[in-house]
Amino acid sequence: MKKIGIITPGGDASGMNACIRAIVRRAVSSKLEVIGIIEGFAGLLKEKFIQLNLRSVSGIINHGGTILKSSRCREIRTAEGLKKAAKILKKQGIESLIILGGDGSLSAGAKIARMDSGISAGLSNLSVMGIPASIDNDVYGTDETIGFDTAIDTAVHAIDNIRDTAVSFNRVFIIEVMGRERGFLAGEVGLASGAEFILVPEIKYNVNKICRKLKEQQQQKKTSVIIVFAEGCGNLYKLANQISKKTQLEVRVSSLGYIQRGGSPSARSRNLASRFGDYAVELILNNRKNLVVVLKEGDIKSVPIDSIIGKEKKIDTGILKLANRLAV
Ligand code: F6P
Repeated sequence: MKKIGIITPGGDASGMNACIRAIVRRAVSSKLEVIGIIEGFAGLLKEKFIQLNLRSVSGIINHGGTILKSSRCREIRTAEGLKKAAKILKKQGIESLIILGGDGSLSAGAKIARMDSGISAGLSNLSVMGIPASIDNDVYGTDETIGFDTAIDTAVHAIDNIRDTAVSFNRVFIIEVMGRERGFLAGEVGLASGAEFILVPEIKYNVNKICRKLKEQQQQKKTSVIIVFAEGCGNLYKLANQISKKTQLEVRVSSLGYIQRGGSPSARSRNLASRFGDYAVELILNNRKNLVVVLKEGDIKSVPIDSIIGKEKKIDTGILKLANRLAV
């Protein structure tokens, strides 16, 4: 019986559990053996495995986080760590490793696959299947990652609440959202929450320009201002100080933080996860190797894992321009 492994290293994203469920149900029904790797790459290196069956994934489709748990692992960034991981997988008899994760986790996966075929004769044949899962949506080649839609909704609801108090006090709020070095989350969240400004790491902002616009908005009798600030843009407290000094407006900051990572997944995140998981197993059943499952213009497809690693996904500046046009 062919053995596959599932691992969820890196930041968890709502919908990962729905994806684990889909993988296990499709694989076990197709007579594959499924091993869950606990606590990401750190757990893999410590050989923390569990057997998964149809019932191990009951009642998890609606839960955030990952039942397989996660961790940040430095060792997997080294050649020794990658080699050790490939050897452990081989020893366990795992032929296909399905990795649910963002940019960093998928690139570690690609390296493990390369490492395996390069180590020595007899250690090859390990295949890696990537499934993009991250609130950052920063995986090249896919229009969407698992968890992105849920994180947008969570952040938008939080900002709606902040808008109420911002209006009551005529205040400017700078709200930090996650996204690592990228502004995908900030762009979608900003548009959906009617933000007056969206600041993303991909585009350098100009404090004087922001202040000039804030003054214009005051003249237009705006009663509140929301500035969505992607975490990769730097220090939001510094920006708050600069704006309050230059404009005398009352400025407050709020970092949404880890609430964006958790919570019950949206229907869209669950369905994307189910489609991705099922398709990854189908590829394995068809003996396809070293691929990443992607969403492209509504269709689920696959691309070679090496074709996406190290490539930078471009942010849609149209969203930022639209939000700006409407924030009058
Ligand atoms: O990649 C997902 C993410 O939530 C980023 O948006 C954020 O910068 C990072 O993970 C936080 O990482 P950690 O869980 O290690 O604090």
